[in-house]
Amino acid sequence: TWSNVPAGPPDPILGITEAFKADKDPRKINLGVGAYRDEQGKPYILPSVKKAEEIVRESAPDKEYLPITGLGSFTKNAALLAYGSDAAPIKEGTVSITQSISGTGALRIGGEFLARHYPASKAIYLPVPTWGNHIPLFRDSGLEVRGYRYFNKDTVGLDFEGLKADLKAAPEGAIVLLHACAHNPTGIDPTPAQWAEISDIVKEKKLFPFFDMAYQGFASGSTVKDAFAVRHFVAQGHQIALAQSFAKNMGLYGERVGAFSLTTADPEEKARVDSQLKIIIRPMYSNPPLHGARIANAILSSSELYSQWESEVKGMADRIISMREKVYNVLTHDLKTPGEWGHIKSQIGMFSYTGLQSAQTKALAEKAHVYMTADGRISMAGLNGGNVEYFAESVDAAVRG
Ligand code: LMR
Repeated sequence: TWSNVPAGPPDPILGITEAFKADKDPRKINLGVGAYRDEQGKPYILPSVKKAEEIVRESAPDKEYLPITGLGSFTKNAALLAYGSDAAPIKEGTVSITQSISGTGALRIGGEFLARHYPASKAIYLPVPTWGNHIPLFRDSGLEVRGYRYFNKDTVGLDFEGLKADLKAAPEGAIVLLHACAHNPTGIDPTPAQWAEISDIVKEKKLFPFFDMAYQGFASGSTVKDAFAVRHFVAQGHQIALAQSFAKNMGLYGERVGAFSLTTADPEEKARVDSQLKIIIRPMYSNPPLHGARIANAILSSSELYSQWESEVKGMADRIISMREKVYNVLTHDLKTPGEWGHIKSQIGMFSYTGLQSAQTKALAEKAHVYMTADGRISMAGLNGGNVEYFAESVDAAVRG
């Protein structure tokens, strides 16, 4: 029956984890998937999450189905976290929001909604490069995927001129996907002044901004600072779409906690949009899982747990920053590795876009048991005091060939 089914390639990110697991060398390091690890290289359950789980357990909740759009108290708090209590759509009650199967699920609901209901265009512009899964995800939603320039290889920084030119050249009404903070894979974000310029172009060209906010808190250590772009666009009067993930900032990866929202013109429009979100979700997975949303909500609804959580997010962000410095210092000062490595220090969020070429990343996996995506992206969180020097030495060897 399936003799005509061709074998597909492994996933460019999750496939790395499979290769890593199959490697038996004790020195192996997985810098592929963006998942936080502690100083011992172990998965990290945030203490605030542990407390929240206790609160949930003590409340002995039932296991009934959630509504199609999820746990209402959670989505209300998720919207507050992203938009801020002062945002006009929050005050006016015009945010249409649904719980989602983490960030990917949020993006997919958004893609499906736009493909069906956005009148102006089917084209969605993604930064080049972008998170690998954005491309098949939006394509499978029925949108037409295009790219805008983002990364400048020569400066290993933002190609702001290219970005502006490409958005200006996009057809009026096109959708533009923006990474709200901690751009994946490059670790390079626009400055607040650059965001303001992007907002102006989006307005001028009547583009539709769709924010992917998978790392709120991870870029600067502050959830408020990291929401700057989203809040600026909303304050400028844009209607936006927003995908939120709690995988990284709460470490709830496998619990699949996220939210998708759209700001609407008025409560009546919101009610119509709400109804269509339900029509999209019901045949896909009926309604979302309970447990993770309850954990996230316990954190977001208690001021005490909330501040504990914020300091734990900052702790993760700070540990990553210390690893950036360490890698930079060992490569530049100790090993005098050929090349310029300042970007490892200046990039932000979970990833560093090292500039290593695919032949080098292949050699690193085969010879040094160091795994990363083929584009040279490394998840900084996979490094710690115990493996960072081995990592830098392995990079040095790969660069020298
Ligand atoms: C990543 O980019 O590594 C993460 O967003 C995990 C994933 O699902 O790809």
